[in-house]
Amino acid sequence: MERGQFSSKIGFIMAAAGAAVGLGNIWGFPTQVASNGGAAFVLVYLILAFCLAYPALMAEMIVGRSARANAVKALPELTDKPILKQFGRLVGLTGLLTVAVILSFYAIIAGWLFSFSLAPIASLVVDSHWLTDFSLERNIIFTLLFMVATILIIAQGVSSGIERWSKRMMPALIAILLLLIAYMLTLPGAMKGLTHYLVPDFSLVFKGGLIISALGQAFFSLSLGVGCMLIYGSYLSSKENIVKVGAWVTLIDVGLAFIAGLLIIPVMYIAAHHGVEIFDKQGALINGDTLIFNVLPALFEQMGDIGQFVAFLFFLLMSLAGLTSSISLLEVPVAYVVESHGVARKKASWVIGGLITLLSLTIVFNFDWLFGLVIMVTTQYSQPVLGLFFCLFAGWVWHRDHALAEIKKGYPEAEQSLFWKIWPWYVRFVCPVFIIVMFINALIGS
Ligand code: PFF
Repeated sequence: MERGQFSSKIGFIMAAAGAAVGLGNIWGFPTQVASNGGAAFVLVYLILAFCLAYPALMAEMIVGRSARANAVKALPELTDKPILKQFGRLVGLTGLLTVAVILSFYAIIAGWLFSFSLAPIASLVVDSHWLTDFSLERNIIFTLLFMVATILIIAQGVSSGIERWSKRMMPALIAILLLLIAYMLTLPGAMKGLTHYLVPDFSLVFKGGLIISALGQAFFSLSLGVGCMLIYGSYLSSKENIVKVGAWVTLIDVGLAFIAGLLIIPVMYIAAHHGVEIFDKQGALINGDTLIFNVLPALFEQMGDIGQFVAFLFFLLMSLAGLTSSISLLEVPVAYVVESHGVARKKASWVIGGLITLLSLTIVFNFDWLFGLVIMVTTQYSQPVLGLFFCLFAGWVWHRDHALAEIKKGYPEAEQSLFWKIWPWYVRFVCPVFIIVMFINALIGS
């Protein structure tokens, strides 16, 4: 069977960056900044993203491109030892399961964002509260809509589906974000927020699990540990310099999180200027659901007619960011079924997408106890542990020479590069130790 491939470097970068950029950047990152003392978190995040998450991303991408297969097939191929082969399969399969569960809650949140984006338009003709109020019917309809959009794109395949859509959506996303920032910064209160975001209080750096939160955020944001970046790497042409391409993806992902914070943190202070409550009882910035779904609409409302337009743009942007990530989530199990079991892509997309939709609806119907639980299990437990195993496979199980040979295909002078001097040590020692610390912390913290 002909394997899909991205048709150009820029197509790949847009698609992989689109996979990485999502609710984690535009919602998760600013929320974490708000709850972890502002600029101190930003600083630690930037350091960890480049020094730890980037090497882990490279591990997945290089293994993926070398094996030209999904994680379930790729990891066992790194070794001759039967027991390690079995273990590799298990890690790959657990990744598939994790991805399915992540998509099932992701679709619910993205569905809310979509309904919030329609609300300003609907309000021109009807009472639109139904779209913004939390209800079972609203959640069901918008989760379904979002899943169908995701399935339709994935059913089209790599270059006509994922690449074409990401290439359109990513630049639009960046443009809308920058436009909103330019506008927001002219409003009173913005400078106070900007200071909170950009001037770090260094005494906060080692406080209350800030480093661990930043690392977890970086892993979620770069879609690591679940075989997502591995499968994207497997679609990258051997001619490309994978080290550089991976650096671009990291730069765009981190850059977008930074830009999103640049918008959202000042917006909170602008909202405060308009009398919206943004601090909790302890005096910390409020975060979580309230941040996006209460504070922002309250601000947009105060801005009058233009506010409704801004609300529409903003939530549309969030939905698009969610969509480029949700397609990457669905691609992981679909690629596995297509490659390893010979199922046609269209059929695989609909069947697996359908099953995940059922899981989503199960969460919607049992929202109170299930929603938070699945988020916690997948992002705090599965992702870090799987990320650890991916690094261990790339660093310890895979032969160094094979990794180097793969990198050299598109980067002949790789052996003398700074990357090659540092990266093998990072995936062997630094990344695993940090992930273990992060995991233990998640265990203790829960
Ligand atoms: N990186 C995405 C985000 O920041 O929203 C979430 C994500 C996508 C996680 C794909 C994992 C994944 F495999």
